[in-house]
Amino acid sequence: MSDAEALNQQLIDELADAGVLSDRWRPAFLAVPRHLFVPDVIWVDAGDGTPTARRREDDPAAWLETAYADEPIGTQVDDGTTPDTGRGLLVTSSISKPSIVSRMLHYLQVEPDMRVLEIGTGTGWNAALLTHMAGGQNVTTVEIDAAIADRARKTLAEAGVSPTVVTGDGADGYPPGAPYDRVIATAAVQHVPYAWVEQTRPGGLILTPWATAFDEGALVLLTVDEHGTAHGRFVDNTVAFMWLRAQRTPAPNRRPT
Ligand SMILES: C[S@@+](CC[C@H](N)C(=O)[O-])C[C@H]1O[C@@H](n2cnc3c(N)ncnc32)[C@H](O)[C@@H]1O
Repeated sequence: MSDAEALNQQLIDELADAGVLSDRWRPAFLAVPRHLFVPDVIWVDAGDGTPTARRREDDPAAWLETAYADEPIGTQVDDGTTPDTGRGLLVTSSISKPSIVSRMLHYLQVEPDMRVLEIGTGTGWNAALLTHMAGGQNVTTVEIDAAIADRARKTLAEAGVSPTVVTGDGADGYPPGAPYDRVIATAAVQHVPYAWVEQTRPGGLILTPWATAFDEGALVLLTVDEHGTAHGRFVDNTVAFMWLRAQRTPAPNRRPT
């Protein structure tokens, strides 16, 4: 067993022991190793709250351990405007925390052959997990940042997984693939875009992180009805996601002086 396989197995066991990874999703986590989706340059907290670039080549073993820790990993800062060598201000893309990913997949209740729309492709890891359950032809994922979407397409192809990756504003959903059985956002909203409701079939589910400028976040699960409305409830209040771009609130200035 390689180091990566051993670390993945350990992470999966930890998630299962904590009751957040079900037997239904365990095969997907085994088949879609997280480190394949983690870029060579990641952004970690320097200890003072500022994201700082760390390169895989400088310490490959530490990079691999980070890939299999139950933590989110910053994969882009400042919308890509800060060079890979320095310190950033704000993490603007990440690979989400494994235990949050597995809980969200559980809440989403995806079945094989369901049509799924993901908003916020990021690294493509969650899209790959969804593809393992629903099938590549059934999963569409939308990413607003062209460079991130391009990288995800490449990574997914290298991993042998083939969801449709769309570069665009996920607030608009993706009408050509509608209607969807499931819509999942991996960026937080203050207002659920109505396009997501319109593009979900009656009885279908929408799962999204929801937050306000004053509160880090919760997960809301909505069921769409035949009247073009959706209703539901909060299912979790322990998450903290980055914002959907157009719904960002002002960020504190954490750049070191
Ligand atoms: C937490 S990351 C996604 C993690 C990802 N699902 C994964 O598995 O790696 C959130 C992503 O949402 C993207 N995003 C933000 N606003 C968006 C929008 N309006 N439409 C599509 N993607 C958006 C960000 O660029 C970022 O890559």
